[in-house]
Amino acid sequence: MARATITSAAIMQHVLILQDEHPPIRLDSVDRTILEPVVVRERLAPVIDYLARVELEVDRNVLELLTLLPGVSELDRYFYQDVWQPQEIAHGLILDRLQVDLGLPPAEVFLGIPMRMKLLGALAHLPAVQEISRFLYYLTGAATEKQAVVAYSRLTTQLDRLGETAISRTVIGQIKRQEPGHYAFYQMSATQMVQDEVLAPWQMFLARVLREKGFALVGTNYVPEYQAQLGAVLVGLELDLELERYAKDMGRLEARLLWANRNGMAFPPYFLEALRQSVDMYREKGFSRQAV
Ligand SMILES: [Fe+2]
Ligand SMILES: [Fe+2]
Repeated sequence: MARATITSAAIMQHVLILQDEHPPIRLDSVDRTILEPVVVRERLAPVIDYLARVELEVDRNVLELLTLLPGVSELDRYFYQDVWQPQEIAHGLILDRLQVDLGLPPAEVFLGIPMRMKLLGALAHLPAVQEISRFLYYLTGAATEKQAVVAYSRLTTQLDRLGETAISRTVIGQIKRQEPGHYAFYQMSATQMVQDEVLAPWQMFLARVLREKGFALVGTNYVPEYQAQLGAVLVGLELDLELERYAKDMGRLEARLLWANRNGMAFPPYFLEALRQSVDMYREKGFSRQAV
């Protein structure tokens, strides 16, 4: 079945609805009752720490974006500055508060910009390069938001199992509801670029090379300790038992748009490799906040 054509007007409409229906979550709207803080801490500390940090790092994402996309469109700017960033920062602040409630130190945010971003940024004034960066930004965003959707679902299950229904419902439950709309924005935007054949074959080729060579899962920032922390998150959420399914959830869109499902590809192999590597690093070295 042919897919419906995606227009910028339809994407803007989506963004406006997102803004209207999902104002940033207020700290006073959550019930912070925790029955057994020690149990939650022991089971889920690395998970909550990782999620808080990644949510708070959106300010770095905005800096990266400004580096990569100096000629950003009004639609993209409106989404990330007026809708997405305020929502994500609220997620981060609420999770950070949860960490403190659990007796954990607040998240330490990594705000450096990786060198490869700076290099790409140096070439970003070239429109042909900027279009590649824009496509990769949407693909990265889609994979990241999908990862968030799955992580928050799993975390809800874990908290419910522990009987921690207040934070499960009012903290994680509220955050979880805002992530699919973010995914939809990136998915529509990336699909529109492919549908309109914005990128020439050489640009698509370069996009594949850059993605394959420079792939990193969100929040790992090419730092080994953070990779090990992601491993701890995957184990904590019991996703280590089904890494392939998780890789498929995250990478399905990218396999279709970037790789045209080459040779029946269900997800790009670098997704699974990065996940496996994180789990291995955690099993070998463990993870503790002090090590970062
Ligand atoms: Fe979020
Ligand atoms: Fe999000």
